[in-house]
Amino acid sequence: MLDAMLDLLVRTKPAVVSFHFGLPNAARIAALKGAGCVLLASATNLDEAKAIEAAGVDGVIAQGYEAGGHRGVFDPSLPDSALGTLALTRLLVAQTSLPVISAGGIMDGQGIAAALSLGAVAAQLGTAFVACPESSADDGYRAALMGEGAHQTVMTEALSGRPARCLSNRFTHWADAAAPIAPPDYPIAYDAGKALNGAAKATGEFGFGAQWAGQGAPLARAVPAASLVEALIKELADANRRAL
Ligand SMILES: Cc1cc2nc3c(=O)[nH]c(=O)nc-3n(C[C@H](O)[C@H](O)[C@H](O)COP(=O)(O)O)c2cc1C
Repeated sequence: MLDAMLDLLVRTKPAVVSFHFGLPNAARIAALKGAGCVLLASATNLDEAKAIEAAGVDGVIAQGYEAGGHRGVFDPSLPDSALGTLALTRLLVAQTSLPVISAGGIMDGQGIAAALSLGAVAAQLGTAFVACPESSADDGYRAALMGEGAHQTVMTEALSGRPARCLSNRFTHWADAAAPIAPPDYPIAYDAGKALNGAAKATGEFGFGAQWAGQGAPLARAVPAASLVEALIKELADANRRAL
C-alpha cells in the first residue's frame, strides 16, 4: 500500500477496506482502524488467515481456488495449497476466531446458502456480477462469458505476473505453449498485457484480454446488478425454506 493511497483512505474513511496479496504494516492498519474503517483481508490458506487474525484485521475472506481474478496468496513463490472454497471456509471457521466471508464459485442464492451453512457470515461474489450491464467488461469478455468459453477457466500467471483465474483465450493458449517461460513480476507483466490487449482490440481481436472468471462462470446472468441482487435474495430465502 502506497503512502498516497493510505492518506486518501484515512481522509475519505470508506466503511470497508479490503486487502489482497497480503497485509500492510501495523502502523497502516492502525491508521485505517483509527479512521473507523472495517478491515478485511483475503486468505487462501490457514497460515495467511492466522497472520490476518494476528494483525487485528476484522474479518477474513476465504478465497477458494475456484475464485475468479487474482489469487490473494501472500507469497506467490511458495507452493500454492489450492484449497477449494468448501474446505477453506470450514478450515477458517473452525480454526480462527474471525468472521469468515466465503468466496469462489458462488453464483446464486443456493451457493450463498451453502457458504452460510458452512459457518461463513457472508459470501463474496465476483464473477456473478461481470455480465451485469453496469460492469466495465468489454464486448469480447461478455460474449466469452455468456458462451461456451465460460466452461473453461484456467489459473495463469501469464496475464499479470501473479496467479489469477480467467477464461481460457488466445493469450492463455499462447502462455501454455510458451511454458515454462516465467512472466516478469506483477505488475510489469500486467501493464504489458494491458498494452497488448489494447493493440489487439484495436484490430477487433478480443482474445488477449484479462477475462477474469471463476469456475462458476457458466452460471453468470446478464441482468442489471439490482435484479441480480433481488434474485440472489429470493434464491437464498427459497434455499433456507427448503432446508427447514
Ligand atoms: C473481474 C474480477 C475482478 C476482481 N478484482 C478484485 C480486486 O480488485 N480485489 C480483490 O480483492 N479481489 C478481486 N477479485 C476477486 C474477488 O474478490 C473474489 O475473490 C472472487 O471474485 C470470488 O470468486 P468468484 O469470482 O468465483 O465469485 C476480482 C474478481 C473478478 C471476477
